[in-house]
Amino acid sequence: MIGDKKVIFSGIQPSSDSITLGNYLGALKNWVTLQDEYNCIFSVVDMHAITVRQEAAQLRKNTISLLAQYLACGLDAEKNIIFVQSHVSEHAELSWILNCYTQMGELNRMTQFKDKSQKHPENINAGLFTYPVLMASDILLYQADLVPVGVDQKQHLELTRDIAHRFNSLYGDVFTVPEPYIPEKNAGAKIMSLQNPTAKMSKSDPNPNGCIALLDKPEDIIRKIKRAVTDSEAVVKYAEGKDGVNNLLTIYSAVTNTSIKDAEKEFEGKGYGDFKLKVGEAVAEHLKPIQEKYEDYMKNKDYLESVYKNGAEAARRVNRRTMAKVKKKVGFIVD
Ligand code: TRP
Repeated sequence: MIGDKKVIFSGIQPSSDSITLGNYLGALKNWVTLQDEYNCIFSVVDMHAITVRQEAAQLRKNTISLLAQYLACGLDAEKNIIFVQSHVSEHAELSWILNCYTQMGELNRMTQFKDKSQKHPENINAGLFTYPVLMASDILLYQADLVPVGVDQKQHLELTRDIAHRFNSLYGDVFTVPEPYIPEKNAGAKIMSLQNPTAKMSKSDPNPNGCIALLDKPEDIIRKIKRAVTDSEAVVKYAEGKDGVNNLLTIYSAVTNTSIKDAEKEFEGKGYGDFKLKVGEAVAEHLKPIQEKYEDYMKNKDYLESVYKNGAEAARRVNRRTMAKVKKKVGFIVD
């Protein structure tokens, strides 16, 4: 806890030029609602991104772009600590130490490691294997109470808790043991591929029409949603087995801030053609002001630089005591 507010930590990898609509609706849009009630720390986790081979110039671009996307979505640099992970070397330092307090067997059980090694059989590097320890370090460095994560990161958060417990039982109360943050009602919805609605919406979708990017042009958004996979029932309702329609209803209700029930009513008796057009237009309209702000931020590189520099300083101020304590506990000489 900092002051009387709980600490929240989260981050997104700058592994592409734009986050997806899924990242936005599932994460960023909800982060914005947390910034008054909590002490929030949001990182652009570039060190995580290099577990998969990146082109250097592109990674730098993506990092700045993601920072601008954070701000354009409404994260306030005055209210939150917003920084680039590699600028704060304590993440790497703590990660090394915690590697020595994590068992091979624990990391072997991580399903994301298994998935990613299957996807990149030519580059199963040690960083990919120990990546959950870096994530644990991100969280524990700031004594985070809560971590908003999607289901795919739950196992990593569990491991973080195990590492924190282990360290604390050896050395006393060094780390806050973080809890997952579960957003209220249907916020934090999981958005699925438009082409394969049983799989998560992802940049690496084999079909480019499956994924909407935050920075997609309105006409592309509308086109992709028009082509979204649905079913042959032609009834707009949320129901088991109607994965495509359920996904579109979820998207619609998130961008228009209505309940699924109200959305169902709105489309009663309407065909999928009308429904999809409305969803497409609603998404395009919701993203328009964000995209405009994004363009403004990207024109102002000096401002972005000041945000990440101040953010890194603020992050170091918060993590200093924890880092010193950890070093002392494990037996390093600290002056
Ligand atoms: N591993 C997360 C992902 O791929 C990103 C991440 C890194 C993160 N460090 C974190 C999320 C700390 C929450 C807290 O999505």
